[in-house]
Amino acid sequence: MSKITIAIDGFSSTGKSTVAKQIANHLGYIYVDSGAMYRAVTLYAVQNAIISKEKFDKETLIKHLSRIDLTFNFNKALGYAEVYLNRVNVEHLIRTLEISGYVSKVAAISEVRHKLVAIQKQLGVNKGVVMDGRDIGTVVFPNAELKIFMIASAEKRAKRRYKELIDRGDDITYEAVLKNVTERDYIDTHREDSPLVKAEDAIELDNSDMTIEEQLDHVLGLISNTLAP
Ligand code: DC
Repeated sequence: MSKITIAIDGFSSTGKSTVAKQIANHLGYIYVDSGAMYRAVTLYAVQNAIISKEKFDKETLIKHLSRIDLTFNFNKALGYAEVYLNRVNVEHLIRTLEISGYVSKVAAISEVRHKLVAIQKQLGVNKGVVMDGRDIGTVVFPNAELKIFMIASAEKRAKRRYKELIDRGDDITYEAVLKNVTERDYIDTHREDSPLVKAEDAIELDNSDMTIEEQLDHVLGLISNTLAP
């Protein structure tokens, strides 16, 4: 069966990566978490004192972009590819609230987007890819055969993210997570370069009241319709 491209966009913590990983495994496709790439660039900036509580040195970050090498390596045990920054696995380091606090500002820098979008397009050149993010259906793969736009209330999303962070041992409050979620929604939808918008031909999926199993069934139905309309 010929392979297609599946673009999954939506607000932060809508469960894009959960469903994207499931369907990539189901179809034997590559899964790419584009948000992880923006997070890895942010981590680089923090590790190199380009971004801190006191400063956000956009010009220096732009100058450093050529030194940032991003790759994905498949982790068999986890069943998905993890992101590597300059050959170091940073999957865990990029998911902190500190990185979440800066990442939307980094993702608003056009030079950063330009570099990452080029890598993302290359990763999908042979199709058979499920990529999630904010601009996948609009900018990275405007010709994707299936585009899904995921939404859920800010409270539901913050609850999910809070549970994830607590489960991995982080010391945070629900209020701090909710604040981060709403701030990122604002920056992601208001930035000048490729703001988060639903592609005209994307199918909206509100999973506020869906279980993970219901969501998977629903998306598999959308895929069947796309493969054999
Ligand atoms: O999906 P995430 O929360 O890991 O994404 C982190 C940030 O990166 C998010 O605030 C917006 C940005 N992002 C983006 O601008 N474009 C993408 N394709 C993916 C993520």
